[in-house]
Amino acid sequence: MLERLQSITETANRELESAVGLEAVEALRVKYLGKKGELAGIMSGMGKLAPDERRALGEKANVVKAELETKISAAILRVQEAALEAELKGARIDVTLPGRGRTGGHRHPVSQTLEDICAVFARLGFVVEQGPEIELDWYNFEALNVPADHPARDMQDTFYVDGNTLQASHANPVVLRTHTSPVQIRTMLNQKPPVRAVMPGRVYRKDSDQTHTPMFHQVEGLLVDTKVTFAELKGTLDAFAKAFFGAKSKTRFRPSFFPFTEPSAEVDVSCVFCSGKGCRVCKQTGWLEVLGSGMVHPNVFKHAGYDPSQVTGFAFGMGVERLAMLRYGIDDLRTMFENDYRFVAQF
Ligand code: DAH
Repeated sequence: MLERLQSITETANRELESAVGLEAVEALRVKYLGKKGELAGIMSGMGKLAPDERRALGEKANVVKAELETKISAAILRVQEAALEAELKGARIDVTLPGRGRTGGHRHPVSQTLEDICAVFARLGFVVEQGPEIELDWYNFEALNVPADHPARDMQDTFYVDGNTLQASHANPVVLRTHTSPVQIRTMLNQKPPVRAVMPGRVYRKDSDQTHTPMFHQVEGLLVDTKVTFAELKGTLDAFAKAFFGAKSKTRFRPSFFPFTEPSAEVDVSCVFCSGKGCRVCKQTGWLEVLGSGMVHPNVFKHAGYDPSQVTGFAFGMGVERLAMLRYGIDDLRTMFENDYRFVAQF
């Protein structure tokens, strides 16, 4: 039996050395080391031997088994290398080619911009508040001191919601909010002063051209406390512009009008493309209009249950798509909502 073991080892070695391909090596493994293999065959006959013969044979069989396992591993390596070599020769694999990259998803440029705006104000101590997109006329206009005959109320600008199922009445119609300013009223009705909040969200207007879409995003801001001044409004919005557009940015405050603020100002930032020298984007003025702002009108405080003799405050509102367009140099707003992957993937 010892001799048989020896001859098995010799044939196995020879066969393993000349084996071609992984399957051939695997077949040899089964032939010699498998459950019904040669080695198992010898072991099963061991019971009939005398104890000392059995021990000698057992020891030898273990050595042979370990040796075969090593040889098999070596044979596997050899055939794998040979296969790779063959493929390389046939130029089927060019290992110098760059790998295929994976494309990860990411947030839409509008979402990124909205989150960045809120993050700047978060660092200035502003919390985030939210309100409904389907809004009562009272919050969207009346409480904000927008008079009944104000052009912004015109059917041309505002989407009215058929209100049978809502709290609508002729006296209190339901609209898709045309700006985020109604969230100012809801926030003040919900809490006592002081208030320091930004209010991001979708707004809707009957508008559609290269720079207007029927739905867009705004971020509203409101700060109310005792003795808040216009200087604080300027300081806060200047700090925002420098954080969002870059430390070298300058701001300019132009007198303006909004029904809900008095005085009101439109804020311009030095052109992000030409740094104020004048270019196509800023129409040679060196400035870009970025937001509306002002000191909260006393009537707004009254509607929100605050006493205008006790508190003052400032408010502001900005268009997110507009800021995203300025930041990324996009000139057609509509591309933002077509969701053409070739466009979105650039950001
Ligand atoms: N609600 C204005 C708009 O949609 C933007 C705005 C201007 C908001 C001045 C304000 C503000 O809070 O003070 O055009």
